[in-house]
Amino acid sequence: MVRNCREVKVREVRFLGAWDEPSDFVELTLDNPGWDGYRPGQFAMLRPKHWGLELSWGRPFSISRSDADSVTFFFQVVGRGTARLARLAPGDEVIIWGPLGNGFSVADQTPTLLLAGGMGIAPFRGYIEKHPTPEFLRIVFAHRASIDSYPYQLMKDMVRAESIHETSPDDLPMIIERIENEVRGAQGGIVLACGPLPFLKTIQQAARLHQIRAELSLERTMACGVGACLGCVCKDGHDKHVQVCARGPVFKADDVHI
Ligand code: FES
Repeated sequence: MVRNCREVKVREVRFLGAWDEPSDFVELTLDNPGWDGYRPGQFAMLRPKHWGLELSWGRPFSISRSDADSVTFFFQVVGRGTARLARLAPGDEVIIWGPLGNGFSVADQTPTLLLAGGMGIAPFRGYIEKHPTPEFLRIVFAHRASIDSYPYQLMKDMVRAESIHETSPDDLPMIIERIENEVRGAQGGIVLACGPLPFLKTIQQAARLHQIRAELSLERTMACGVGACLGCVCKDGHDKHVQVCARGPVFKADDVHI
């Protein structure tokens, strides 16, 4: 068995979203595999034990939160693997491998702006829970699906939070302007971001322009999670090819090309 690889049982599968609509946004909670801890922004590989050879390898997922008893992941059903993960039931066995990757910086008593786009909200639940001075945190969340589809309210109960709903492509200029303004206003603090690449690119450009310290999670580019598929390759600040799953998924905004 691979190092850091354990078999654990499913505790809960919870579908988020409006009560009268079928949801493909899922929170999956597993037994804690014996981790001493983890760093928010890290990820883990998951593979249900009963998967056959047609899905021979696990899938990488951002760790949403973890405590002494459990670890939770938040994902959207987008293909065969996630569809089958969503059909797990309590007691099913899952092989979990992690925590992997580097994670976000934690700056005690420092204003920290969390910028989340869509599923990029996943790592920030644990980030907020584990932060030593959460009163210094603020999250701005841009999303397309209904706000109930995301674990946003839980975060709103813990830190200052605002959401921006993209209802049509016409909203994009407004959202880009809002995100740029948020980054510009983060002088003296840090910005941590996770979301789709265009969202991260906007943040990166604004951070460079206004010389704001920022970190970007490129986890959305990962596929195999273990350096095999090369699907996550990007260039670092020295124009060298790097694999997000091996060097990241979190990069300083001035040390990666998006
Ligand atoms: Fe496959 Fe990085 S995710 S090589």
